[in-house]
Parts: sequence; structure tokens; C-alpha cells
Amino acid sequence: MTDDPNDESQDPTDDEEQAPRLTLMAPPPDDDAPAPAPTRRACILTAGGDAPGLNAVLRAFVKRATSLGLEVFGSQDGFDGLVRPGRMVRLDNDSVRGILMRGGSILGCSNRANPFSYPVRTATGEELCDKSDEVVERIASFEIDVLVVVGGDGTMHMGKGLADKGIRVIGVPKTIDNDLAATDSTFGFDSAVHVATWAIDNLHATAEAHDRVQIVELMGRYAGWITLHAGIAGGADVILIPEIPYEIERVVQKIHDRGTHDESFTIIAVSEGAAPAGGGTAEIAAAKPGHLARLGGAGQRLADALKDKCDHEIRVTVLGHLQRGGSPSAFDRLLGSRFGARAAELCSEGASNRMVSLRNGSVTDVPLADVVGKMRRVDPSGELVRVARSLGVEMGTGST
Ligand code: F6P
Repeated sequence: MTDDPNDESQDPTDDEEQAPRLTLMAPPPDDDAPAPAPTRRACILTAGGDAPGLNAVLRAFVKRATSLGLEVFGSQDGFDGLVRPGRMVRLDNDSVRGILMRGGSILGCSNRANPFSYPVRTATGEELCDKSDEVVERIASFEIDVLVVVGGDGTMHMGKGLADKGIRVIGVPKTIDNDLAATDSTFGFDSAVHVATWAIDNLHATAEAHDRVQIVELMGRYAGWITLHAGIAGGADVILIPEIPYEIERVVQKIHDRGTHDESFTIIAVSEGAAPAGGGTAEIAAAKPGHLARLGGAGQRLADALKDKCDHEIRVTVLGHLQRGGSPSAFDRLLGSRFGARAAELCSEGASNRMVSLRNGSVTDVPLADVVGKMRRVDPSGELVRVARSLGVEMGTGST
């Protein structure tokens, strides 16, 4: 077997190419020779949507793993590199030089390449196929001992599925939404909150100048962490999150109340996943097999509901993917570095089916099973919501 991961002759799906690879394998050691050090290879991938800090994880993982004697491969575009041939790369200290401050991922990301439900084009459209056994074979063909999956809940789910097929898996928690269970924080969240707070700060000036109601729609599919943190940090007057279905009359009342206090502008921070009581989330495209619904329109829907109920002009800003881009904050670089280094140590220690996690300020690890299918959402009667209310923020419903 050659060391070049892009050598497609290593593609296990290519039967003709398997024979030469087998002939190239080293002969078994004779009994007197010292046992060779076990080949310890790790493969890392970044799956799901990107988040600031992915490159910090990759850099730390490669540096620490290399220092521990591991060889590192990278699968391009999430699990895609383990499904399609010619998409594996070797990672060494040179590959990760100068990437700490860069957004995105040098390996690329994909939230479509699910090995258990992989989209394959057919003459009539697209079919979802289970490629997980092929992935297991490919991992074996590259003699990879451990797979490191960096991602959110969907990624951990896929990792757990491969773990159930006998692959050693280590997870690293990532998502700007910060909604992963069994960790106090994911990396990417802090950078997203910075961008969202910056946006709310800037919107204050223009909203005040024009006496407008300014709505800003922020990311947060199932959990309102970004909106709640940035809303409080940026001084929003109304904060609407998925965990608290809102009553439109309360928002109208808040706008009126501010008008009578010589503050004729209102800033409303709304999560993309927030919905009025009795209503569903606003979607641009409905869910279909292999795809989550694409959320969008929560801000505009709110503006439409307000327009006949208040005298102010209303404007909507959708921050969208700006929250995922840009250079990661110092916190995310640090957390990503800590997670990456610890993941490498877990690989070296022989751990399997664990996820690195931040608990009370320390990096630790938890079973993958504690994470999958669970979600860390805002507690509607928790401390942060109570603080917001105590500062006069309208949360869309009475205290819970
Ligand atoms: O999960 C992170 C997230 O940013 C969500 O808040 C959002 O709904 C989703 O990703 C959007 O993903 P994309 O538009 O890249 O498919």
C-alpha cells in the first residue's frame, strides 16, 4: 500500500486495484524480530455546516496527534471523502500551518454526505443509499484505526452508527447554535454571538435615527442561544427564541410602551426557529428525505404580523451565514485547540466512542451515546431568560 491517500489504486471499491495493494503489504515479522509498533492512523473529518474554529481543531489535532506518533488522514467534505474515492488527504504539520485564524475548514464540509443515507443521482432524480458498509471497508483499506468526527448532532449520530459497526469513533462538538447535549459549549458559538452582537449594535443607530422597529433574524434552528446571548449583549428590546412561542400582542405592547417613554425605536432579535404560539417555524424549503427544512422568513413573518398593529416603519435584517463566516473569536480558537488536542490524546490512548466536551471550564470526554439524539435548549425559566426579563426585555410571553 502506498502512503499517498489520493492514489486511487487504494480505492477498495475498485476490485482490479486491490491485488497490487495486497502484494505490496509487508511480510509478517519472523518470531525473533521485535514486534513492530502498531500502525496508528487517525482520520479526521469536518461534517455538517461549517463553524468558526474548525481549522483550529484541525491544526491542534494534527499537531498533537503527530507528536504522539499518529499518522493523520483527512476526509474531504465531511463523510464524502469516505464514500467517494480519491478524496482522502494526508495531513501533517505543514498542511495546518497558518490556518488558525481562518474561517471555514481546509477539509471542506458537507451536510448532505450522510453515509447511511447518501444521495446518488439516478436517471429519474436522486436516490438515498446506505453506503455505511462501503465506508467501513474504506476505513479498513486505509488501515485507519480511529475516526474523528467534528460536527453537531447529525454528525455524532452518523459517528455512532459507524461505531455500532465496529469503527472506533471520537467526536468533537461543533455548531454555532450551541445546542449539543453533554457539553457546556460548542466551538463556533462565541464567534457567531460576536457577529450577531455587532449587528445589533449597528442596527441601533439606524433604528434610532429613523424611529423604526428594526427586526434582526439570527440563526438558531431549535435553540435560541445565539439570539438570547446577542440580544442581551446588544441590548435588544424584544428577544424571540424557539423555546418560547411568542404572542404577537405582547410584542405590539412593547413597541407602544417604548413609544410612550420617548424611545420611539425598538430592536427585536428573533431566532430563525422562533414561532408564534400555535404556529410552525417559517421555512424557505420544506423537509424532504435526506434534507432538513431550510428555515428562513421568521423576521419577515413577524414584520407582516406587526405592520397593521403599530405606526412605526418596520425593517428586517437577516444575518444568515455571516454568523458562520469570518475569523473565529479568540475563545473559539482556544476551545477548538483544546478540543483538537484532547481528541488526539483520546485517539492515542485507544479510547473509542467518546466525544470531547467542556464541563465547568475543563475539557473532558463523554460517551457518544450521551449526546446523540439529545439537545441542549434554552430553559424558558432559567437564569438567562430571567436576567433578560429583569432588564425589561420582552420575551414574547409572560414568565414561565
Ligand atoms: O446548524 C447550524 C445552522 O447554522 C442553523 O442555525 C441553520 O438553520 C443551518 O445551519 C443552516 O445551514 P445551511 O444553510 O448551511 O444548510
